[in-house]
Amino acid sequence: MTLVLQKVEEIPPLPAAVQRIIQLTQDVEADEHEIIQVISLDEALTARILHVANSAFYGFSQRIATVSQAVMVLGLRGLRNLTLGIAAIGFKFGKPKQDVFGVDRVDFWRHSMAVATISNELTKLLHYGEADETFVGGLLHDIGKVVFLGFFEDEYCEVLSKSAHSDRCLFELEKEMFGIDHAGVGRELCRHWNIPPLLTRIVANHHLPQQSKGSPSEEDRRAFLVRMADNLARILQIGNDGEPCVEMDFLKLIESNHLHLSELNQLLVELPDQVAKVESLFELQADKEGNEMRCPKSKVAGVVLSHEREAAIASMGLVTLGHTLTPVGEESVKSADWAGVVTDDNSLTPELRVVLEERQIPLLNFPSWRETQIQKGARIPVRSMHMWMKEHLAH
Ligand SMILES: [Fe+2]
Ligand SMILES: [Fe+2]
Repeated sequence: MTLVLQKVEEIPPLPAAVQRIIQLTQDVEADEHEIIQVISLDEALTARILHVANSAFYGFSQRIATVSQAVMVLGLRGLRNLTLGIAAIGFKFGKPKQDVFGVDRVDFWRHSMAVATISNELTKLLHYGEADETFVGGLLHDIGKVVFLGFFEDEYCEVLSKSAHSDRCLFELEKEMFGIDHAGVGRELCRHWNIPPLLTRIVANHHLPQQSKGSPSEEDRRAFLVRMADNLARILQIGNDGEPCVEMDFLKLIESNHLHLSELNQLLVELPDQVAKVESLFELQADKEGNEMRCPKSKVAGVVLSHEREAAIASMGLVTLGHTLTPVGEESVKSADWAGVVTDDNSLTPELRVVLEERQIPLLNFPSWRETQIQKGARIPVRSMHMWMKEHLAH
């Protein structure tokens, strides 16, 4: 057994009440009264559950005053997931330095809450059934990193630093350093904690690309959804999980016509406020601005790139910065107040290039900021992309 897995075994179990709730709700014929009793005996847990159940997030019109009412409106599974979410946020051990290459505790959980919120929205948008399952999957997806930081802080700082300077994915560097990545460690921790199989699978597979053959299982569809949310949270730059890149294959759902880019871009505009609501729900103390990247006053911007995935990521980057996307054409360039157009050497027609240059609209050559790091259309170092856009677009 590796040293990392030995450490996982040493992690204390979940609080007794949480364990009992997981155990009881696994049974199809779960005894509702026993569950209510288990929760009611834990005052702190009861208070948290009622606080969350009464929040705007669930949006119930009537006040929920007792645990039995909470069971009635949330269902047993909903209650179990809510309990797990509360337990996950409270989970910390060791004493990591306040700020590890920009990844502090608040930033880390902000990222996880953003992933949870986006997973929730995507589940609804795609009619994937119960949203709270993917919500908790999103909250837990990077829990393996907390183990690395808690037990192997110096080594993990080295991994984070290497990743930040090279734009290589954390999971690759973790495997080189520890022989296992955070998804694997997270999976082992979920097993150790007896977390239900669907959630364990989401944690274990959130960096796996979706299989192209056959129809995916329910678990794999949800893991892919969380993977998509993880990448979107990175594009939005809400919180920080230390990963410098987005993996472009998360756009498969758009390419298979299950989702439209415009729907996603609309979601990106609305998400920062929704994530802020979830943060207050779990009482995460964050004194940083919701979206630091957003420009105070945005202008219109456009994308002309023949590589579809790059075009999609570039347009999401522009929306995240607060710009309004506009199709680039001879008519539109005459009237609008332009920040710039993201393009490359091959995608723009010579005629349109002349018009744009005449109008002195900034042309940003994608991906001039770090050409070698775009790995055959697989990944884009999104942090670098944001900085590059921010630096070169007119405000
Ligand atoms: Fe991850
Ligand atoms: Fe993540």
